[in-house]
Amino acid sequence: MAENQMDEYEAQDKRIRERLDRIGRKIMIMSGKGGVGKTTVTVNLANALVDMGCTVGVLDTDLHGPNVAVMFGCKDAELLSGDGQTFIPVTPRPGLKVMSLAFALEDPDAPVIWRGSLKNSAIRQFLSDVEWGDLDYLLIDTPPGTGDEQLTVCQSIPELTGSIIVTTPQEVAVLDARRSVNFSRKLGVAIIGVIENMSGLICPHCKEEIPIFGKGGGKKMCQEMHVPFLGAIPMEIGLPEAEDNGKEWVAETGHPSAEALRAIANEINNGTACSTSRDTSFLGTPSCKPSACASCTSNCPSRKK
Ligand SMILES: Nc1ncnc2c1ncn2[C@@H]1O[C@H](COP(=O)(O)OP(=O)(O)OP(=O)(O)O)[C@@H](O)[C@H]1O
Ligand SMILES: [Mg+2]
Repeated sequence: MAENQMDEYEAQDKRIRERLDRIGRKIMIMSGKGGVGKTTVTVNLANALVDMGCTVGVLDTDLHGPNVAVMFGCKDAELLSGDGQTFIPVTPRPGLKVMSLAFALEDPDAPVIWRGSLKNSAIRQFLSDVEWGDLDYLLIDTPPGTGDEQLTVCQSIPELTGSIIVTTPQEVAVLDARRSVNFSRKLGVAIIGVIENMSGLICPHCKEEIPIFGKGGGKKMCQEMHVPFLGAIPMEIGLPEAEDNGKEWVAETGHPSAEALRAIANEINNGTACSTSRDTSFLGTPSCKPSACASCTSNCPSRKK
Protein backbone atom coordinates (compact mmCIF):
# COMPACT_ATOMS: atom_id res chain seq x y z
CA MET A 1 0.00 0.00 0.00
CA ALA A 2 1.44 3.40 -0.96
CA GLU A 3 2.10 5.84 1.87
CA ASN A 4 -0.70 8.25 0.93
CA GLN A 5 -3.11 5.30 0.76
CA MET A 6 -2.00 4.26 4.24
CA ASP A 7 -2.57 7.80 5.51
CA GLU A 8 -6.07 7.72 4.03
CA TYR A 9 -6.69 4.27 5.58
CA GLU A 10 -5.61 5.54 8.99
CA ALA A 11 -7.72 8.67 8.60
CA GLN A 12 -10.71 6.50 7.74
CA ASP A 13 -10.04 4.26 10.75
CA LYS A 14 -10.14 7.40 12.89
CA ARG A 15 -13.45 8.50 11.36
CA ILE A 16 -14.90 5.02 11.94
CA ARG A 17 -13.75 5.12 15.57
CA GLU A 18 -15.27 8.58 16.11
CA ARG A 19 -18.61 7.60 14.56
CA LEU A 20 -18.90 4.27 16.31
CA ASP A 21 -17.88 5.70 19.68
CA ARG A 22 -21.32 7.30 19.69
CA ILE A 23 -23.04 3.91 19.38
CA GLY A 24 -23.59 1.71 22.42
CA ARG A 25 -23.63 -1.85 21.13
CA LYS A 26 -22.41 -2.96 17.75
CA ILE A 27 -23.66 -6.42 16.85
CA MET A 28 -22.95 -8.51 13.75
CA ILE A 29 -25.62 -10.99 12.66
CA MET A 30 -24.13 -13.92 10.78
CA SER A 31 -24.67 -17.51 9.63
CA GLY A 32 -22.68 -20.04 7.71
CA LYS A 33 -25.64 -21.04 5.57
CA GLY A 34 -27.77 -18.80 3.35
CA GLY A 35 -31.49 -18.28 3.77
CA VAL A 36 -31.69 -19.24 7.43
CA GLY A 37 -33.15 -15.90 8.52
CA LYS A 38 -30.30 -13.47 9.27
CA THR A 39 -32.08 -10.52 7.68
CA THR A 40 -35.38 -11.52 9.26
CA VAL A 41 -33.70 -11.62 12.67
CA THR A 42 -31.88 -8.31 12.09
CA VAL A 43 -34.99 -6.43 10.95
CA ASN A 44 -37.25 -7.84 13.63
CA LEU A 45 -34.77 -7.36 16.46
CA ALA A 46 -34.27 -3.77 15.29
CA ASN A 47 -38.01 -3.10 15.31
CA ALA A 48 -38.45 -4.83 18.67
CA LEU A 49 -35.61 -2.77 20.20
CA VAL A 50 -37.13 0.45 18.82
CA ASP A 51 -40.49 -0.60 20.31
CA MET A 52 -38.68 -0.86 23.66
CA GLY A 53 -37.51 2.74 23.31
CA CYS A 54 -33.98 2.11 21.99
CA THR A 55 -32.42 3.96 19.09
CA VAL A 56 -31.16 1.54 16.48
CA GLY A 57 -29.10 1.66 13.31
CA VAL A 58 -29.11 -1.18 10.79
CA LEU A 59 -26.25 -1.60 8.37
CA ASP A 60 -26.83 -3.97 5.46
CA THR A 61 -23.49 -5.46 4.41
CA ASP A 62 -25.12 -7.99 2.08
CA LEU A 63 -23.98 -6.06 -0.99
CA HIS A 64 -25.02 -8.73 -3.51
CA GLY A 65 -28.47 -9.26 -2.04
CA PRO A 66 -29.47 -6.20 -0.01
CA ASN A 67 -32.92 -7.11 1.39
CA VAL A 68 -33.08 -4.98 4.50
CA ALA A 69 -34.71 -2.02 2.71
CA VAL A 70 -37.62 -4.13 1.44
CA MET A 71 -38.26 -5.60 4.87
CA PHE A 72 -38.31 -2.15 6.47
CA GLY A 73 -40.69 -0.89 3.76
CA CYS A 74 -38.23 1.73 2.50
CA LYS A 75 -36.97 0.17 -0.73
CA ASP A 76 -37.71 3.31 -2.78
CA ALA A 77 -35.70 5.59 -0.53
CA GLU A 78 -32.67 7.26 -2.10
CA LEU A 79 -29.22 7.76 -0.74
CA LEU A 80 -28.91 11.37 0.36
CA SER A 81 -25.80 13.28 1.25
CA GLY A 82 -25.69 16.12 3.75
CA ASP A 83 -22.59 17.96 2.64
CA GLY A 84 -21.45 15.93 -0.35
CA GLN A 85 -19.02 13.99 1.88
CA THR A 86 -21.26 12.01 4.18
CA PHE A 87 -24.44 9.97 3.76
CA ILE A 88 -27.69 10.39 5.64
CA PRO A 89 -29.22 7.07 6.71
CA VAL A 90 -32.84 6.37 5.79
CA THR A 91 -35.31 6.63 8.68
CA PRO A 92 -38.24 4.26 8.10
CA ARG A 93 -39.63 5.14 11.56
CA PRO A 94 -38.53 7.33 14.48
CA GLY A 95 -35.64 5.74 16.36
CA LEU A 96 -34.47 3.66 13.41
CA LYS A 97 -31.73 4.46 10.87
CA VAL A 98 -30.93 2.21 7.94
CA MET A 99 -28.09 2.12 5.43
CA SER A 100 -27.96 -0.25 2.50
CA LEU A 101 -26.41 -0.35 -0.93
CA ALA A 102 -29.99 -0.84 -2.16
CA PHE A 103 -30.53 2.92 -1.71
CA ALA A 104 -27.77 3.66 -4.20
CA LEU A 105 -28.81 1.20 -6.92
CA GLU A 106 -30.74 2.70 -9.82
CA ASP A 107 -31.94 -0.67 -11.08
CA PRO A 108 -32.92 -3.09 -8.32
CA ASP A 109 -32.54 -6.00 -10.77
CA ALA A 110 -28.94 -5.14 -11.65
CA PRO A 111 -26.42 -7.55 -10.10
CA VAL A 112 -23.62 -6.08 -8.00
CA ILE A 113 -20.49 -7.71 -9.43
CA TRP A 114 -17.78 -6.78 -6.98
CA ARG A 115 -14.59 -8.38 -5.76
CA GLY A 116 -13.50 -8.40 -2.13
CA SER A 117 -11.48 -5.17 -2.22
CA LEU A 118 -14.45 -3.17 -3.50
CA LYS A 119 -16.72 -4.73 -0.88
CA ASN A 120 -14.19 -3.89 1.80
CA SER A 121 -14.16 -0.22 0.75
CA ALA A 122 -17.95 -0.01 0.52
CA ILE A 123 -18.43 -1.41 4.04
CA ARG A 124 -15.71 0.82 5.48
CA GLN A 125 -17.37 3.80 3.84
CA PHE A 126 -20.71 2.83 5.39
CA LEU A 127 -18.98 2.83 8.76
CA SER A 128 -16.94 6.00 8.33
CA ASP A 129 -19.15 8.28 6.26
CA VAL A 130 -22.72 7.57 7.34
CA GLU A 131 -24.19 10.03 9.81
CA TRP A 132 -25.32 7.46 12.36
CA GLY A 133 -25.36 9.94 15.24
CA ASP A 134 -25.97 8.71 18.80
CA LEU A 135 -27.48 5.23 18.88
CA ASP A 136 -28.03 2.48 21.42
CA TYR A 137 -27.46 -0.24 18.85
CA LEU A 138 -25.95 -0.85 15.43
CA LEU A 139 -27.12 -4.17 14.01
CA ILE A 140 -25.02 -5.34 11.08
CA ASP A 141 -26.67 -7.79 8.71
CA THR A 142 -24.19 -9.90 6.74
CA PRO A 143 -24.41 -12.32 3.81
CA PRO A 144 -23.91 -16.04 4.51
CA GLY A 145 -20.43 -17.31 5.26
CA THR A 146 -17.22 -16.22 6.87
CA GLY A 147 -15.63 -14.18 4.11
CA ASP A 148 -14.85 -10.64 3.04
CA GLU A 149 -17.84 -8.89 4.56
CA GLN A 150 -17.58 -10.48 8.01
CA LEU A 151 -13.81 -9.97 8.07
CA THR A 152 -14.14 -6.31 7.12
CA VAL A 153 -16.71 -5.73 9.86
CA CYS A 154 -14.58 -7.49 12.50
CA GLN A 155 -11.35 -5.80 11.49
CA SER A 156 -12.81 -2.31 11.09
CA ILE A 157 -14.68 -2.39 14.41
CA PRO A 158 -12.29 -3.54 17.16
CA GLU A 159 -14.92 -2.65 19.75
CA LEU A 160 -17.58 -4.87 18.15
CA THR A 161 -19.83 -5.99 21.00
CA GLY A 162 -20.30 -9.45 19.54
CA SER A 163 -21.92 -11.71 17.02
CA ILE A 164 -25.35 -13.31 16.87
CA ILE A 165 -25.33 -16.54 14.90
CA VAL A 166 -28.51 -17.68 13.16
CA THR A 167 -29.15 -21.28 12.15
CA THR A 168 -32.05 -23.57 11.43
CA PRO A 169 -32.27 -26.86 13.32
CA GLN A 170 -31.22 -28.80 10.21
CA GLU A 171 -27.89 -30.64 10.40
CA VAL A 172 -26.34 -28.88 7.37
CA ALA A 173 -27.24 -25.45 8.73
CA VAL A 174 -25.87 -26.35 12.16
CA LEU A 175 -22.65 -27.59 10.58
CA ASP A 176 -22.21 -24.19 8.94
CA ALA A 177 -23.19 -22.40 12.16
CA ARG A 178 -20.35 -24.20 13.95
CA ARG A 179 -18.00 -22.53 11.47
CA SER A 180 -19.48 -19.14 12.38
CA VAL A 181 -18.87 -19.90 16.06
CA ASN A 182 -15.25 -20.78 15.33
CA PHE A 183 -14.86 -17.73 13.07
CA SER A 184 -16.00 -15.48 15.93
CA ARG A 185 -13.64 -17.24 18.31
CA LYS A 186 -10.68 -16.94 15.95
CA LEU A 187 -11.32 -13.20 15.55
CA GLY A 188 -11.82 -12.64 19.26
CA VAL A 189 -15.45 -11.60 18.78
CA ALA A 190 -17.72 -12.36 21.73
CA ILE A 191 -20.59 -14.67 20.79
CA ILE A 192 -23.72 -13.03 22.13
CA GLY A 193 -25.64 -16.16 21.25
CA VAL A 194 -27.20 -18.47 18.72
CA ILE A 195 -30.76 -18.23 17.44
CA GLU A 196 -32.53 -21.30 16.06
CA ASN A 197 -34.86 -19.97 13.38
CA MET A 198 -37.44 -22.00 11.45
CA SER A 199 -37.69 -24.17 14.53
CA GLY A 200 -40.87 -26.05 13.63
CA LEU A 201 -43.71 -24.76 11.45
CA ILE A 202 -46.92 -23.65 13.11
CA CYS A 203 -49.80 -25.12 11.08
CA PRO A 204 -52.17 -22.23 10.32
CA HIS A 205 -55.17 -24.57 10.62
CA CYS A 206 -54.62 -26.74 13.67
CA LYS A 207 -51.81 -24.64 15.27
CA GLU A 208 -49.81 -27.86 15.74
CA GLU A 209 -46.09 -27.72 15.15
CA ILE A 210 -44.57 -29.55 12.17
CA PRO A 211 -40.78 -30.08 12.47
CA ILE A 212 -39.92 -29.28 8.83
CA PHE A 213 -36.21 -28.71 9.51
CA GLY A 214 -36.24 -30.71 12.74
CA LYS A 215 -36.05 -29.08 16.17
CA GLY A 216 -33.40 -28.44 18.76
CA GLY A 217 -30.32 -28.68 16.50
CA GLY A 218 -29.19 -25.13 17.29
CA LYS A 219 -29.70 -25.53 21.02
CA LYS A 220 -27.79 -28.84 21.03
CA MET A 221 -24.89 -27.18 19.19
CA CYS A 222 -24.81 -24.43 21.84
CA GLN A 223 -24.50 -27.03 24.59
CA GLU A 224 -21.74 -28.85 22.72
CA MET A 225 -19.79 -25.69 21.86
CA HIS A 226 -20.48 -23.88 25.15
CA VAL A 227 -22.08 -20.81 23.60
CA PRO A 228 -25.25 -19.04 24.79
CA PHE A 229 -28.57 -20.01 23.22
CA LEU A 230 -30.77 -16.96 22.68
CA GLY A 231 -33.97 -18.73 21.67
CA ALA A 232 -35.94 -20.56 18.99
CA ILE A 233 -38.23 -18.90 16.45
CA PRO A 234 -40.85 -21.07 14.75
CA MET A 235 -41.67 -20.82 11.05
CA GLU A 236 -44.90 -19.02 10.53
CA ILE A 237 -47.13 -18.49 7.54
CA GLY A 238 -47.63 -14.76 7.14
CA LEU A 239 -44.13 -13.69 8.13
CA PRO A 240 -42.65 -13.77 4.58
CA GLU A 241 -45.57 -11.77 3.19
CA ALA A 242 -45.26 -9.19 5.96
CA GLU A 243 -41.56 -8.86 5.13
CA ASP A 244 -42.21 -8.49 1.39
CA ASN A 245 -44.63 -5.67 2.21
CA GLY A 246 -42.31 -4.00 4.70
CA LYS A 247 -44.79 -4.48 7.54
CA GLU A 248 -43.54 -4.70 11.11
CA TRP A 249 -44.11 -8.33 12.11
CA VAL A 250 -42.76 -8.16 15.60
CA ALA A 251 -45.52 -5.76 16.72
CA GLU A 252 -48.16 -8.36 15.80
CA THR A 253 -49.88 -10.14 18.65
CA GLY A 254 -50.91 -13.78 18.63
CA HIS A 255 -47.91 -14.90 16.58
CA PRO A 256 -45.46 -17.25 18.33
CA SER A 257 -42.60 -16.17 16.03
CA ALA A 258 -43.18 -12.49 16.87
CA GLU A 259 -43.32 -13.37 20.57
CA ALA A 260 -40.06 -15.31 20.29
CA LEU A 261 -38.35 -12.40 18.53
CA ARG A 262 -39.58 -9.95 21.18
CA ALA A 263 -38.27 -12.23 23.93
CA ILE A 264 -34.85 -12.43 22.27
CA ALA A 265 -34.72 -8.64 21.86
CA ASN A 266 -35.61 -8.31 25.52
CA GLU A 267 -32.86 -10.75 26.51
CA ILE A 268 -30.34 -8.78 24.46
CA ASN A 269 -31.44 -5.44 25.85
CA ASN A 270 -31.88 -6.41 29.49
CA GLY A 271 -29.88 -9.56 29.90
CA THR A 272 -26.21 -10.11 30.32
CA ALA A 273 -25.90 -11.23 26.70
CA CYS A 274 -23.89 -8.18 25.65
CA SER A 275 -21.69 -7.72 28.68
CA THR A 276 -18.60 -9.48 27.44
CA SER A 277 -15.97 -7.21 26.00
CA ARG A 278 -13.99 -8.15 22.96
CA ASP A 279 -10.51 -9.58 23.04
CA THR A 280 -8.83 -7.40 20.46
CA SER A 281 -5.40 -8.96 20.84
CA PHE A 282 -5.70 -10.38 17.34
CA LEU A 283 -5.58 -6.85 16.02
CA GLY A 284 -2.02 -6.56 17.22
CA THR A 285 -0.49 -4.48 19.96
CA PRO A 286 -1.60 -0.85 20.34
CA SER A 287 1.66 0.23 18.74
CA CYS A 288 0.85 -1.91 15.70
CA LYS A 289 -0.36 0.93 13.47
CA PRO A 290 -1.28 0.47 9.81
CA SER A 291 1.80 2.46 8.79
CA ALA A 292 3.94 -0.29 10.34
CA CYS A 293 1.95 -3.03 8.63
CA ALA A 294 3.86 -2.92 5.38
CA SER A 295 7.06 -4.11 7.03
CA CYS A 296 5.38 -6.39 9.58
CA THR A 297 5.76 -10.14 9.07
CA SER A 298 3.22 -11.35 11.64
CA ASN A 299 0.02 -13.18 10.79
CA CYS A 300 -2.05 -10.44 12.42
CA PRO A 301 -5.27 -10.22 10.37
CA SER A 302 -5.20 -6.41 10.50
CA ARG A 303 -1.99 -6.39 8.49
CA LYS A 304 -2.62 -4.43 5.31
CA LYS A 305 -1.54 -6.31 2.25
N1 LIG B 1 -39.46 -17.86 11.13
C1 LIG B 1 -39.78 -17.75 9.83
N2 LIG B 1 -41.02 -18.14 9.40
C2 LIG B 1 -41.37 -18.03 8.10
N3 LIG B 1 -40.56 -17.56 7.14
C3 LIG B 1 -39.33 -17.15 7.52
C4 LIG B 1 -38.88 -17.23 8.86
N4 LIG B 1 -37.61 -16.75 8.92
C5 LIG B 1 -37.29 -16.39 7.67
N5 LIG B 1 -38.31 -16.63 6.83
C6 LIG B 1 -38.32 -16.43 5.36
O1 LIG B 1 -37.25 -17.20 4.85
C7 LIG B 1 -36.60 -16.51 3.79
C8 LIG B 1 -35.12 -16.30 4.12
O2 LIG B 1 -35.05 -15.40 5.22
P1 LIG B 1 -33.93 -14.27 5.27
O3 LIG B 1 -33.88 -13.52 4.00
O4 LIG B 1 -34.16 -13.51 6.52
O5 LIG B 1 -32.64 -15.20 5.39
P2 LIG B 1 -31.11 -14.78 5.26
O6 LIG B 1 -30.35 -15.71 6.13
O7 LIG B 1 -30.96 -13.34 5.51
O8 LIG B 1 -30.85 -15.09 3.74
P3 LIG B 1 -29.51 -14.71 2.91
O9 LIG B 1 -28.49 -15.73 3.30
O10 LIG B 1 -29.93 -14.81 1.49
O11 LIG B 1 -29.12 -13.33 3.31
C9 LIG B 1 -37.36 -15.20 3.60
O12 LIG B 1 -38.30 -15.40 2.59
C10 LIG B 1 -38.06 -14.99 4.95
O13 LIG B 1 -39.26 -14.25 4.81
MG1 LIG C 1 -30.07 -11.84 4.31
